[in-house]
Amino acid sequence: MNILVTGANGQLGNEMRVLSKEHPKHRYWFTDVVESEGVQVLDICDKAAVSAFVAQHAIDLIVNCAAYTNVDKAEEDEATALKINAEALSVLGGQGVKVIHVSTDYVFSGDEHVPCRETDPVAPRTAYGRTKYEGEKRLLAECPEAVILRTAWLYSEYGNNFVKTMIRLGKEKESLGVVFDQIGTPTYAADLAWAIFTVIENPVWHAGIYHFTNEGVCSWYDFTVAIHELAGIKNCQVRPILSEEYQYKTPRPHYSVLDKSKFKKTFGVEIPYWMDGLRRCVKLLLKEK
Ligand SMILES: NC(=O)c1ccc[n+]([C@@H]2O[C@H](COP(=O)([O-])OP(=O)(O)OC[C@H]3O[C@@H](n4cnc5c(N)ncnc54)[C@H](OP(=O)(O)O)[C@@H]3O)[C@@H](O)[C@H]2O)c1
Repeated sequence: MNILVTGANGQLGNEMRVLSKEHPKHRYWFTDVVESEGVQVLDICDKAAVSAFVAQHAIDLIVNCAAYTNVDKAEEDEATALKINAEALSVLGGQGVKVIHVSTDYVFSGDEHVPCRETDPVAPRTAYGRTKYEGEKRLLAECPEAVILRTAWLYSEYGNNFVKTMIRLGKEKESLGVVFDQIGTPTYAADLAWAIFTVIENPVWHAGIYHFTNEGVCSWYDFTVAIHELAGIKNCQVRPILSEEYQYKTPRPHYSVLDKSKFKKTFGVEIPYWMDGLRRCVKLLLKEK
């Protein structure tokens, strides 16, 4: 297959580039808004450019890793978030090729106390969540055969993310307050890239919406304690605090655990535990030093 990966400079896009080496039977084009080594420029909002690219390279499948992911900035500039997270999905979905797209736990309210299924009603509470949900709808309207993977709490070796921030703060500070009343599942972007290749390599194309995160649950506090332990950080005391003590610009879901039963059953796979993913990521981060 000829595969176009958008947003290739981001966390997931980078992990797709790494994992693509284990799937050499396909041809890949990695693109983003900014050029980098092995990455060509392609703005997913530019309909003419996307259509020309797809035609020129006879693309069979688009894996969309591009997104407007800054939750706070989306609140201030919903129009731009809507362009990238929703309007561009009509462009990608309208190319007449298969699409794998990534969405978010933020489509849900976060008020539930049981893991959310794909069929549960959505109720986004933020501009980011609203634009991502709109993107799901616009993609499915153009391309009912698309696969959408909703994920959460993504981290990786690449870009800025919670794991890298907590390692840095753990080295700089003697004490750190981290919220313990928001529950979710940290997800290693390398494992999400593996899930995407699971969909690609499956002999049968199973269109639809799926939930995919690592296994298990924790709070941001537990996540931080685990990060520090694995990174060998001993001189920073991590304190559990309530969300109301932390000045969030944008409300965060209290419970955003996704039920992954559909993905596991459809593709016949087991998913790594979050701590296992974290161990692999921290090991790579420490090696880079
Ligand atoms: N991060 C999380 O915790 C999380 C949680 C749930 C779901 N997700 C979803 O998972 C997916 C991957 O997230 P991620 O963390 O890998 O995102 P990321 O690191 O922010 O990467 C997104 C990439 O897309 C690029 N991009 C932005 N606008 C573009 C455009 N118009 N055309 C082409 N590329 C564009 C970005 O470039 P710039 O940086 O230059 O803008 C960036 O390189 C996204 O769909 C996201 O919504 C993420």
